[in-house]
Amino acid sequence: MDNIILIGFMGCGKTTVGLKLSYRLRRTVVDTDKEIEKEEKRVISDIFATDGEEYFRDRETACLRKMLGSMSNQIISVGGGLPLREENRALLRKLGQVFYLRARPETIYERVKHDTTRPLLQGPDPQEKIRTLLTKRDGAYTEAADVIIDVDDKDFGQILCEIEENVNGFRVEEE
Ligand code: S3P
Repeated sequence: MDNIILIGFMGCGKTTVGLKLSYRLRRTVVDTDKEIEKEEKRVISDIFATDGEEYFRDRETACLRKMLGSMSNQIISVGGGLPLREENRALLRKLGQVFYLRARPETIYERVKHDTTRPLLQGPDPQEKIRTLLTKRDGAYTEAADVIIDVDDKDFGQILCEIEENVNGFRVEEE
């Protein structure tokens, strides 16, 4: 399918890039976290606290399956842990072209240090947690990706241009 999919660690910019890209390419943007929160009628930190991470991971897989049957020509940004399941990586490949927004741990820490909505980063040493998780996850992100975009030290304009240059079949439409 011809969707554009954004993956990467928490705080790498998927949501903002998705919104800006949606405006530039005139495609709708959908976010798996927001879809799950809508269906569950509660926020992610409540889902983790009440039903645990595995329950949330199952909801992510269910969300992708549903998208596979219904979405084309859209932008999909996915939660940072979603590509870790092999099954999810296969579903992502079927859904469209996958862009990995790759960031260094320092960049991520700067962006998420005041955030209270991500349960996995609420422990006593978020910097160490980011380093450990990122090391564990980078292989899965790379495996899932069709294109890797390094986002460190780049503004959103540069990141969007790099994505657009790599979108399959992308055509610049003059205003
Ligand atoms: C998670 C990332 C979050 C959200 C949940 C778990 C993760 O999404 O799905 O808190 O495991 O990396 P964002 O990447 O949009 O922050």
